[in-house]
Amino acid sequence: MLSNRLKTIVRMVPRAQTIADIGCDHGKVAVALVKNGRSQHVICGDISGKSLDKARKNAKGFEESISLREGNGLEVLAAGEADAAVLAGMGGELISDILNANKDKAPDTLVLSCNTASGLLRQWICENGYRIADEELVFENRHFYPVILALKGQSEKLSDIALEFGPVLLEKKPKVLRYFIKRRIDKTKEIRQQIEKSDSSKKMELLNQIDERLEEYAGIEKCL
Ligand SMILES: C[S@@+](CC[C@H](N)C(=O)[O-])C[C@H]1O[C@@H](n2cnc3c(N)ncnc32)[C@H](O)[C@@H]1O
Repeated sequence: MLSNRLKTIVRMVPRAQTIADIGCDHGKVAVALVKNGRSQHVICGDISGKSLDKARKNAKGFEESISLREGNGLEVLAAGEADAAVLAGMGGELISDILNANKDKAPDTLVLSCNTASGLLRQWICENGYRIADEELVFENRHFYPVILALKGQSEKLSDIALEFGPVLLEKKPKVLRYFIKRRIDKTKEIRQQIEKSDSSKKMELLNQIDERLEEYAGIEKCL
């Protein structure tokens, strides 16, 4: 059984001849992509041999369609070999580092899902010749996971708020975004209280910055 997060990732991947799943771990995405006919060939890459062992078990019966390759990031691919790549279940910083390390091997279609630093990942997308074509937000096990479809192309410059919440999510306004923003507001208020109690020399400056941010959040919350 696929979790909601994995189902969303699989749904976001466009039909393509060869898809790479980098940091595949269990390999469940690859199996689903082959099973539902989304792809004829999935290359599963992982830096850990133990992770690939899990993928090997799950891919039993699909050996002709799923290749397993041990290695760092996109190094397991030849340039132009994959039509699309999935990089999911890692931090936004690691995903950006992996893409940066081998830009020539990054396909024109990327499905990216990070568990931290989503703003940094969106920034990487927009500053490296891709645009965010679609995005969904999944709430699972008390965490929020963005699932981003990035396509090669020119992106507009994104505001801090668009980087934080995702320009497409802000437009689509899914119900889950309201919970996400609510949690951001609660966390920011907690930080505000801590600053208020401190005797930092920059207290007033920091409080003003936080209040501005809270106003922006409230503005978005109203529009959802
Ligand atoms: C938490 S799992 C995510 C598995 C799956 N993609 C998902 O979303 O459920 C992260 C996987 O990324 C792999 N990984 C971490 N750094 C990597 C790198 N530089 N290159 C390839 N795989 C990497 C880890 O070994 C691990 O199997």
